[in-house]
Parts: sequence; C-alpha cells; structure tokens
Amino acid sequence: SANASPTGMQPTATYDSPFLKACRREPVPHTPVWFMRQAGRSLPEYRKVREGIPMLESCTRPELVTEITLQPVRRHGVDAAIYYSDIVVPLKAIGLDLDIKPGVGPVVAEPVRTRADLARLRDLTPEDVSYVTEAIGLLTRELGATPLIGFAGAPFTLASYLVEGGPSRTYENAKAMMYGDPELWADLLDRLADITAAFLKVQIEAGASAVQLFDSWAGALAPADYRRSVMSASAKVFDAVAGYGVPRIHFGVGTGELLGLMGEAGADVVGVDWRVPLDEAARRVGPGKALQGNLDPTVLFSTPDAVETKVREVLDAAVGLEGHVFNLGHGVMPATDPDALTRLTEYVHTQTAR
Ligand code: CP3
Repeated sequence: SANASPTGMQPTATYDSPFLKACRREPVPHTPVWFMRQAGRSLPEYRKVREGIPMLESCTRPELVTEITLQPVRRHGVDAAIYYSDIVVPLKAIGLDLDIKPGVGPVVAEPVRTRADLARLRDLTPEDVSYVTEAIGLLTRELGATPLIGFAGAPFTLASYLVEGGPSRTYENAKAMMYGDPELWADLLDRLADITAAFLKVQIEAGASAVQLFDSWAGALAPADYRRSVMSASAKVFDAVAGYGVPRIHFGVGTGELLGLMGEAGADVVGVDWRVPLDEAARRVGPGKALQGNLDPTVLFSTPDAVETKVREVLDAAVGLEGHVFNLGHGVMPATDPDALTRLTEYVHTQTAR
C-alpha cells in the first residue's frame, strides 16, 4: 500500500511527500499545492476524453478515471491528485435515480421527503463501487510518490441534494425537515453518514492517502443549527475512518462561523474559503490542526501580477501555521486558463522553498 501503517511501519515516498507532511503538521521543503476541482473543469484534454460520455458514466470507467485524475498532476505539477468522481456517485451506486445535468448539477428524480423514502437509502458495499477499487489500484501505480486524495460529500450537503431534488440557493425543503421533523432529519443524516463512511473506506483500502469530506453548502447553517443537527453525522464519518491514520480534510464554503466546529467534528485539516484570512482561521480552529486554502478562485481571471500579489497575501497570513496546504478557497472555475494554474503552482513552490 502507498500508505504507511498507522501502527508505524516503514514510511514510503508517498508518506514522506510534502502534502502528507503538511497535513501531519511536519516541516516541508515547500508549501504543497493542489486545487479543488483540478480534475475536469478547465482542461482541454479533459473535455476531449469526456466527449460523448455522460458525467456519471465516466466515473464508472477505471481507465478513464485514471487518465482524468492524472491530467492535472502531469500538467501543473501539483503535490496531490484528487480522485475523479462526484459526491453523488455513492448514491447512484446504491440505486437512487439521479443524474448530473451539465451546467446544473445533481438532479434527483424522486426527492427524499418522508420516512418511507428513507428505505431507498440502503447500505453501500464495496461491490457496489468495484470500479473505484479498480481505478485506485491503477492510479496508485501511476502516481508514484504523489498522494491520492479520496473524497465524499458530507451528510448535510448530500441531504441538501436529496431533499431538494437538485441544486438550491435556500435549502428550504431540507431546512423544513431539519426544523420540522428533527427525528427524520437525524435518521436521514445518520444513513448518509454510514454510506459516506463506507465509500471513504473503499477508497482508503484501495490506496487513497488522504480523504476530504466536502460539506460545500454547510455555510448556509447558523453555528447552533450545525452543532445541533449536522455535526454528529459528520463526526460519525470522521470517526469511522480515524483508525486508518490517513489525514482527514473537512471543507465547506462560507463556513467562517463554523470553522471551529468543523475542526471539532474530527478533521486533521480544515479547509478555508477566501472570506477569512488564514491567520484568523487558525485562531478560530485552534491548535492541533493544519489549514488548507484559500485563494479566491476568481483571482485567476486577473493579471499574473495581481495573482502574485494575492498569493503573497495568502502566504503571509499562513506564516506560523502548524501546517498549510495551499489551495483555492473553492473549486477551479470552468473558464479558468489552465496556464494560470500551472504558474500559480510554480509560484507557490518557489516562494516557499526552504
Ligand atoms: O475535484 C476534482 O477535480 C475531482 C472531481 C470532483 C467532481 N465533483 C467532478 C465533477 C469533485 C471533488 C466533485 C465534488 C462535488 N460535486 C461537490 C463538492 C465540491 C464543490 O465544488 O463544492 C459538489 C457540490 C458536487 C455536485 C456537482 N457535480 C456540481 C455542483 C456539479 C457542477 C454542475 C455544472 O456542470 O456546473 C457537478 C458536476 C461535475 N462534477 C463536473 C465534474 C468534472 C462537471 C461535469 C462535466 O464536466 O460534464
């Protein structure tokens, strides 16, 4: 396996990579860099291999998944790969009728609104996602010392799609259930926690060296509601994979007020969007955790000089952090010039070379 055993077997080149060292808050030769949504999105070579293949189907083809996952590593020289998939893949794998509509996002044929609907959420087994195990086997061989990040959607963010039936700005149906039928809500999030934990375990056992839980839309919640109605389900996911000893990253958008709780839920690394500077984020998260972030992804549409100025702001705020993984504050935007990402990677590496 690419992962050194948590019980202390000999470290490997992957274990000693800058990315995994930064996650463990160990000294690094340079600040490691990767980008959320680096696979797919802005790359012409991605659009070429995806031609004519629907998004969710592309996730079930191990050779294609391997190629798309490797593309940004080859092109930008980033310090980690992220597994090409989507947060709704495990839900599709247990038989839910859902699709990803281009330009829209995940759409669920029959939203989950009642207790009877919960019965459709059965457990996920490794056999349901055998293509994931196969693809990660191929990938870890190709990646050498570059770590692979596995990921899943967090229970709240998955529930937001399932209850709304698709993307939402307000999450009114999900919140109606959360406030109006807290028992049903808790049971829904608990089911999703089990499915998510099972999906992350498959990825780690196949060779993923770190995992990221995307609670992208948790920023819609007040801290008291997050603590009361969401946090324990995410904590269940983190607890379920704690024994593997791989770093666990926890990310959401607009979560400035939730950073402390998101760390407390069980993360080793807390993702920060661009709205809170990293030094302030570190105060909110508290000691014992690394931070990941946090360049505003729209900065990449500006001039190279402006990008460098904004990157230095991020790096200045990161001085003195226990561990820093450079990333954008949210995913790469589809229209981003890929060369801007390559330049950004090189710039962070040279600015932080020790
Ligand atoms: O990060 C990576 O490069 C790995 C692949 C990845 C995808 N989705 C592939 C994808 C990851 C990590 C995700 C996570 C994901 N999916 C999240 C959390 C991350 C975030 O941005 O907050 C969310 C909320 C989703 C749900 C989803 N899937 C959305 C909102 C969309 C965009 C719809 C659109 O077309 O604008 C998708 C589709 C999707 N997932 C694409 C890719 C490459 C685009 C589909 C395509 O190329 O046809």
